[in-house]
Amino acid sequence: MAEGSADFKNTDDYTTTNVINGIKYPPHVKRENLEALAKFDLRDDDIVIVAFPKSGTNWVLEIVTKTLVTSGKIGASSSDDILDKGKLEFQYSHELRPRHVILQECASPRVISTHLNLDSVPPGISNPQNKVKIIVVMRNPKDTVVSYYHFGQKCRSLDGRKPLPPWDEYFRIFLEGKNTYGCYFDHVLGWWQRRDDPHFLFLKYEDMKKDLPNAVRTVAAFLQVNLDDASIETIAHACTFANMKGILDNSRIYDRTVNARKGLVGDWKTMFTDEQKKLFDQKCKTKLEGSGLHFDFE
Ligand code: A3P
Repeated sequence: MAEGSADFKNTDDYTTTNVINGIKYPPHVKRENLEALAKFDLRDDDIVIVAFPKSGTNWVLEIVTKTLVTSGKIGASSSDDILDKGKLEFQYSHELRPRHVILQECASPRVISTHLNLDSVPPGISNPQNKVKIIVVMRNPKDTVVSYYHFGQKCRSLDGRKPLPPWDEYFRIFLEGKNTYGCYFDHVLGWWQRRDDPHFLFLKYEDMKKDLPNAVRTVAAFLQVNLDDASIETIAHACTFANMKGILDNSRIYDRTVNARKGLVGDWKTMFTDEQKKLFDQKCKTKLEGSGLHFDFE
């Protein structure tokens, strides 16, 4: 879609500079920073967390950070720093430098997170020759759209921006892939192409909800970190929704302060009409059929 097209202008108040290669981004993702990512240097021991917004990014970030601290790979004091750096592509108006610049100065191992599509990340991440460990987190799109809607409204009210359109309209925008960060399905399907690459780990939000200790064990094994059962249980306990809500609610980091809402699987049922469910199921079928990618919506 052409930059600054009427379709985007009508959906909200973003400036056209936030439509980059046909994808609309929030105001803190700036064109010059996205372009600069082509030159972002990855290190072999980097850990990258990839997730479409509202899919459990902060949850996995917390698990990874606690795993690294527990195993002594990083000091406890660096964990705040890691969480503070936020997304690779972010730059808030109060920050003098973009995150990708700050990240270049961070000690190893770095934990980098991003919501970007496979074709927008630095080549060191997308290149099949890379040695970087990449954890892709996916969440069923019905809960993702509901979470994204609430999150968007809250951010906009905090920023004094115009509210998002009513839910029905936002639902349509999401289904058409015209929301910020673009089409959910294109995002997950892009990353899913790399499912057989040993440098990739794919996690699903719904599986993590079902068995969090198992998710922690899987992450630790992927990061080649030895943890005993007691440590796994301790990390899982610290990363339950109830325990993380306290951390996220009290965080001084902007995008984490509005992140712990309900933490449920199936919350979409509080918003979707029967007609919306039908439309969404049809979209999932069309987009995901044959991909081997399935989601647990209950
Ligand atoms: P809800 O809005 O449905 O509650 P992200 O970190 O990618 O922005 O994702 C945010 C979503 O993950 C929010 O979903 C948030 O509540 C949920 N979340 C954060 N920590 C969680 C945890 N420990 N357990 C379950 N869900 C969690």
